[in-house]
Amino acid sequence: MRYDEIVSKGLGILRDAGIEHWLNLGAETQSQNRLNREYMDSLTFEMRLLGDGQWADTRTVLFGVELPAPIMPAALTASRVITKLARWEDPWLELFASGVAKAGSIMWVGMSTPYELQRIMDQGAPVVKIVKPYQDNAEILHQIKDAEARGVVAVGIDIDAMYLEKAFDEKPGPPFLGPKSIAELQTFRDATSLPFILKGVLSVHDALIARDRIGADCIVVSNHGGEAIDYAVPILKILPEIKAAVPEITILVDSGFKRGTDILKALALGAHGVCLGQLLLLAFVANGAQGVADMLGILTEELRRNMSLTGCKTVTAIEPSIIRPL
Ligand SMILES: Cc1cc2nc3c(=O)[nH]c(=O)nc-3n(C[C@H](O)[C@H](O)[C@H](O)COP(=O)(O)O)c2cc1C
Repeated sequence: MRYDEIVSKGLGILRDAGIEHWLNLGAETQSQNRLNREYMDSLTFEMRLLGDGQWADTRTVLFGVELPAPIMPAALTASRVITKLARWEDPWLELFASGVAKAGSIMWVGMSTPYELQRIMDQGAPVVKIVKPYQDNAEILHQIKDAEARGVVAVGIDIDAMYLEKAFDEKPGPPFLGPKSIAELQTFRDATSLPFILKGVLSVHDALIARDRIGADCIVVSNHGGEAIDYAVPILKILPEIKAAVPEITILVDSGFKRGTDILKALALGAHGVCLGQLLLLAFVANGAQGVADMLGILTEELRRNMSLTGCKTVTAIEPSIIRPL
């Protein structure tokens, strides 16, 4: 299926179920999704066509894994969208993960039980596990060690989801999540020898603490798909500042990325890779595991074409000067 077919089929299924609006995650005003999109759209490309006449190579390495492109799913947990559709039995994420395995990407798992994590891992894709900021630190430490023992390639915690649910139409969930101190995050970092990820960094302030005091190997610049805070600074606006502050750690981004051009903009402004949540969820609704694999393949082709048109022969050769603000 083509991009447009996947999206319109997925949206049609959600519309028929009366839950199309659930895809546009966001806190009270949903301003952050709109502003994020507007900023992304305000960045344009120079074309750089004259060179050696070769197609670009999108391959890269993240967490020691060779990938066809720096494009991965965002950390996902069982979704109310899927539960409402009730087309898949729990744990539905393993089906999603089999699509990721087909595409040769890395699966990112958010909130899960060890049983679900294992079934997802059994699909064959390398897995990154992002633990929730549970109030119970023993549970966090248990899940980090459990994930490491099962063989994930990296582990981390999302620091921006102190509320269980904060999408615009939901009430905050029961208080089993909470904010974590730097000292607590250090403890989690020290509990594993794997690459350690902090997800939900949206300031130079937090990026410096992540690197210098917590010892994170990787940060995900993210507004949690719009759920974190209204009027969140657009991802691509803050990204160059964060890159300048912590150039030596791995920087990934998520929130609002939809096309190969969006991904190229992020790579040009300093990201090593891009994660996508809602778009891949939509592809899954449209066509199950194959929809996920197809969408990852389509985005890779879009990235390859746009890298070729901007003279970026490899992922490491992508540079900020191809971007021209309107
Ligand atoms: C169905 C679904 C489940 C999610 N579950 C988690 C989770 O368990 N942990 C987490 O850190 N983020 C979770 N997220 C947020 C994503 O990791 C990511 O930050 C966000 O979806 C990126 O924005 P996008 O959806 O616009 O691509 C979830 C997102 C979706 C769509």
